[in-house]
Amino acid sequence: MKSVTYISTAKEIFDNAALDTLLLQCRAFNGKNDITGCLVYNGINFLQLIEGPESSIDSCMARIIADDRHSGVVGIRSETIGVREFPSWTMAGRLYPDSKGQTSVGIIDEVLQGARSQTRAIFSSFTTLKAA
Ligand SMILES: Cc1cc2nc3c(=O)[nH]c(=O)nc-3n(C[C@H](O)[C@H](O)[C@H](O)COP(=O)(O)O)c2cc1C
Repeated sequence: MKSVTYISTAKEIFDNAALDTLLLQCRAFNGKNDITGCLVYNGINFLQLIEGPESSIDSCMARIIADDRHSGVVGIRSETIGVREFPSWTMAGRLYPDSKGQTSVGIIDEVLQGARSQTRAIFSSFTTLKAA
């Protein structure tokens, strides 16, 4: 299996509805293609990990890169794995609206518990970044 982690920049701010739609789209394709993973959004950048059979991950990355709701997709880690880090999630990620109407997407600690320490470090450092 293959695991890819990347970051990208949203072209426009994603509101609740846009993030709900995105998560539904992710889960629909991933569920049919044996892909699991997690997604976070801090108000400007996305950080996502996808894992699964190599051919599924390659076609998923092509879909992701082709999506014009974001740009600047940069892979930060790509590797062969034997065991999934997010086996129960076609795409883990939960909306956290704040009082200013900005919504972020985070993952609860419990979901990250099953991940490797390097993965936990990548995701926890990212969520401390904030949009200006
Ligand atoms: C931040 C971000 C994350 C995405 N993650 C996934 C994903 O995990 N799986 C997937 O199939 N597509 C993913 N996409 C791509 C969109 O889901 C896809 O372009 C959309 O569903 C439209 O596909 P369609 O043209 O086949 O309808 C992502 C797109 C963005 C912007």
